[in-house]
Amino acid sequence: MTKIPAISLRRLSKSFGDLDVLGVMDLDVGRGEFVSILGPSGCGKSTLLSILSGIEEATTGEITIHGAPLNQSGQPFAWMPQNDALLPWRTVVDNVGLGYQVAGRLSKRAARDQARLLLPAFGLEEFSRALPYQLSGGMRQRVALARTIAQGRDMLLLDEPFGALDAITRTELQLWLEQIWGVDRPTVILITHDVREAVLLSDRIYVFSDRPAQIVAEFEVPLDRPRTIEMLAGAQATQLELDLLRALHVGSGDTP
Ligand SMILES: Nc1ncnc2c1ncn2[C@@H]1O[C@H](COP(=O)(O)OP(=O)(O)O)[C@@H](O)[C@H]1O
Ligand SMILES: [Mg+2]
Repeated sequence: MTKIPAISLRRLSKSFGDLDVLGVMDLDVGRGEFVSILGPSGCGKSTLLSILSGIEEATTGEITIHGAPLNQSGQPFAWMPQNDALLPWRTVVDNVGLGYQVAGRLSKRAARDQARLLLPAFGLEEFSRALPYQLSGGMRQRVALARTIAQGRDMLLLDEPFGALDAITRTELQLWLEQIWGVDRPTVILITHDVREAVLLSDRIYVFSDRPAQIVAEFEVPLDRPRTIEMLAGAQATQLELDLLRALHVGSGDTP
C-alpha cells in the first residue's frame, strides 16, 4: 500500500500519572473515510480525541496527518466534544457562528451572516434566535454539529454526538449526519458506544477494550451508501452487530 493515510497513529499510548488509559496502539484512517471507535465507557476514547485535538499530549508514539507530524499540521480537525459545549448566552446562530469565528477569524457579525446560510441544512432556521436552554437535546446536538461543520475542516472528530438522545431522534440525526457527510466526504473519527450507530454510519470500525484501551477488533462495514435503516435488518448488518458485541465482550473480559 502506497497511499498515505489521512490520520496515522503509531505506537501511541497515554497515561495520566499511574493511570494507563490508552495501551500501545496503531490506527489508520484513510482520506474521506468514516471510521468509528466503539468501546466501553471509561476506556479512553475521549482521551484519544483530546490527544488528536492537541489538548493532551501522548505519552509515547507518533501521530501523522497526511504523512506530516501532527504538531506541524496546524489544527487540522474540527472537534465536537462529548458535552456539546454550547455557549449558554449565545443564540443558535451565534453558537454556529463561533465555528466560523474560530476557523476564519471573522467578526461576530460576519460569522453570524455565514452561520445564517448554514442553518437551513441543519433544520435550525426557525430557531436561529433561540438560546440553548430553550432547545431540545436533538436541537442542541444539531447546533453543536453545525458549529463543527462551520469550521470548514476536512477532518472531523465527533465524540458521542448523539449520546443523550432518545432512539427515534437519534436515528433521524444519524441518517441526517450521513447525508451531510456524503456532500464533501470529510475524514471522520466518530466515538460511540452504540453498536448500531457504528454499523449504520461507518466504513470501518475499531473496537477498543476496557482501560487501558487496546484495539481488540477491526471490521469493514459491507453496506452500500447512502445507508438506510432497512439495511440494518439485513443479514450482513445483523452478523456484523453480533461480531461487534462479541468483540466488546471479549474486550471487557466478560465471558459471554
Ligand atoms: N485529564 C485527566 N487526568 C486524569 N485522568 C483522566 C483525565 N482525562 C481522563 N482521565 C481518565 O481516563 C480514563 C478514560 O477517560 P475517557 O477518555 O474520558 O473515557 P471514555 O471517553 O472512553 O469514556 C477515565 O478513567 C478518566 O477518569
Ligand atoms: Mg468519552
